[in-house]
Amino acid sequence: MLTNLLAVGVLALSSLVSTASAAPSAGCGKNPTISSTRYNININGKNREYYMKLPDNYDKNRPYRLIFTWHQLGGSAQKIVNGEDPNKGGALPYYGLVPHSNNSAIFVVPNGLNQGWGNTGGEDVTFFDKLVERIEADLCVDTSLRFSTGFSYGGAMSYALACARPKMIRAVAVISGAQLSGCSGGNDPVAYYGQHGTSDSVLNISMGRQLRDKFVKNNGCQSAGEPQAAQGRSARVDYKGCKEGYPVTWVLHTGDHNPSQKDNGQSQPFAPGNSWQFFSQFASQ
Ligand SMILES: *[C@@H]1O[C@H](CO)[C@@H](O)[C@H](O)[C@H]1NC(C)=O
Ligand SMILES: *[C@@H]1O[C@H](CO)[C@@H](O)[C@H](O)[C@H]1NC(C)=O
Repeated sequence: MLTNLLAVGVLALSSLVSTASAAPSAGCGKNPTISSTRYNININGKNREYYMKLPDNYDKNRPYRLIFTWHQLGGSAQKIVNGEDPNKGGALPYYGLVPHSNNSAIFVVPNGLNQGWGNTGGEDVTFFDKLVERIEADLCVDTSLRFSTGFSYGGAMSYALACARPKMIRAVAVISGAQLSGCSGGNDPVAYYGQHGTSDSVLNISMGRQLRDKFVKNNGCQSAGEPQAAQGRSARVDYKGCKEGYPVTWVLHTGDHNPSQKDNGQSQPFAPGNSWQFFSQFASQ
């Protein structure tokens, strides 16, 4: 009886401890110097630009999610911050994640060299590394909850990070991506959400499947047939048998190269809700 009670007590305590041990960054507890504005950082002698967005009423003792949002070719960090008309093929501000995040996330919006993510010699992955270092020294981040998303070239950059920084990134959401920023490493599992249009005229559907299949394999998932997307209606497959903590979700639609594809009868694009649902399934480790 007493041992049972004790066991219950220990269990209760350990679950308390595991919720509290949110791998907080060094910036937790500090008064932040970073605010929601534009910054510069020198990477390998090149001046790089990025924007930050902190949650409302930032709490220096709360470990937040850290979400990187990478722009498309010809886009810019500024355009991700401001958003572009989703009815004209643009992406919503911060890929539409802010309203879903309910102030639980810090957003980072890097700006590309030549408006893209060529990642020459790994310089854009280094940019990511240095941003993580700088941000987490100053802000309170849950270091087990870093995420990356982007459309097109921004999806390629998220994929490059999943390949090169699997231990640092909990999950990626790749919207209409292809392998354009390289894949250094690429042997470890990372939770992977991908979506792509079967009529993509810029980066064809095979390119999106190629990225997905890398993580279906790395995550140890069973292969699955393609979901059947009807005209104007996306379809998804949640892969089975993946290693615990490393799911793969694939959403297929019949549209073109578009970050803001909607299902018939819906007023909002589905990428933001899907990506947020995918990211927010992960708890602190
Ligand atoms: C938003 O976050 C607050 C504070 O953490 C919480 O109390 C509230 O329930 C959340 N709202 C939703 C809709 O999840
Ligand atoms: C997709 O594009 C690649 C590269 O341009 C090409 O090799 C491949 O044949 C294309 N696949 C389809 C299904 O169009």
